[in-house]
Amino acid sequence: MEKILVSDIRENQKVDSTFLVKGKSQAVGKTGKPYIYLKLSDKTGEIKGYVWDNVEKFAGSFEAGDIVKVKSKTSVFQNELQLGITDIEKVSLDDNDAEMLSMFLKSARRGANEMFSELVSVLNENLSDEYIIKLADKFLKDENYVKMLKSMPAAKSIHHAYIGGLLEHTLGMLKIGVFLAGHYGGYVVKDVLLASILLHDAGKMEELCVKNNVTEYSDEGRLLGHIVLGAGAIDRKIAEIPGFPEKLRLLLLHSIISHHGELEYGSPKRPKTAEAFLLHYIDNMDARINQLADFIGGGGAQWSQYSKSLDRYLLNSVAFAASDDTGETDAPHRHPAENGGHAGAGDDRGKPEPASEAEAAGRKNGGKPDSGKNNGAETAGNTGSSLFSGEFFD
Ligand SMILES: [Fe+2]
Ligand SMILES: [Fe+2]
Repeated sequence: MEKILVSDIRENQKVDSTFLVKGKSQAVGKTGKPYIYLKLSDKTGEIKGYVWDNVEKFAGSFEAGDIVKVKSKTSVFQNELQLGITDIEKVSLDDNDAEMLSMFLKSARRGANEMFSELVSVLNENLSDEYIIKLADKFLKDENYVKMLKSMPAAKSIHHAYIGGLLEHTLGMLKIGVFLAGHYGGYVVKDVLLASILLHDAGKMEELCVKNNVTEYSDEGRLLGHIVLGAGAIDRKIAEIPGFPEKLRLLLLHSIISHHGELEYGSPKRPKTAEAFLLHYIDNMDARINQLADFIGGGGAQWSQYSKSLDRYLLNSVAFAASDDTGETDAPHRHPAENGGHAGAGDDRGKPEPASEAEAAGRKNGGKPDSGKNNGAETAGNTGSSLFSGEFFD
């Protein structure tokens, strides 16, 4: 069976291919008929799948984390492509078949060791406070911390949700932090800003766990969340450093616990220092641009499909600016739902926001269940429609 990549799937397409099961749940429809809801993925993305018939036959034959072979056809529901699955079968994969597995698991573009060396260099070049250096060292010499930093995703599904994503996110933020600490020099304690960037998601190492290739929330994550877990981990390391100044400790912990920006997004305090505001904005900026880049991917000059997590359609501005005046593009069609499957780039040009966007937004989560949400580990107020929704940090 030839592999069909998620990024190549279009409307009304027969899709007989293999995918990684990232999520699986069973539910009962309005008519009382049970169905299976799946999140299927490969290294290029994720797509929802539904098994409407023969549920008893298929329900116990595979689990989340398995690679499965499906027979299916695509359709569009609430502006999202989904697979209607008629047959599904677990594929046994040799544990050593890393090449095969890499087809299904997305990784950061750069290697973990290369990114980690750069992160250490950025810190070496920019930290100057002896206690902050000792604290950073405590983490960077902790084998378990480094191993997790190099491999973990930065979030379960929203941003940098791939192998090495947490390191990519942390390094990217550090580089932005170095620039902004210089730009706002008179108002920023640079060492506090950089240490808080380095450690702001430390709690995610306890909040998330990757089992069988699937990222899940741990019991600690569901019950305490990464803000509380991270603050605790940092405070424990600080306690191991004799003479660590109390004011530095307060500034650092304040940045960590306020980095979601608002109480309703899970922060017990809102930012009250320059470092805390900057950490919040840098985190949000890096998460959002990664999310956008992931969503528009290799798409062409036309509008994307509707992004539920960003609550809008997106445009690949680089491709759009470079396309010719007729709007012709070689890129594949990616916006079937809104244009009846016939739109080229030119069809969208000059239009205001697509009319169906508000409608699509209004119907968010109104149809099929979404097993990735409402799992108790997400922050409150995750409507997805606010600029600084807590959803972007989880
Ligand atoms: Fe973050
Ligand atoms: Fe966070």
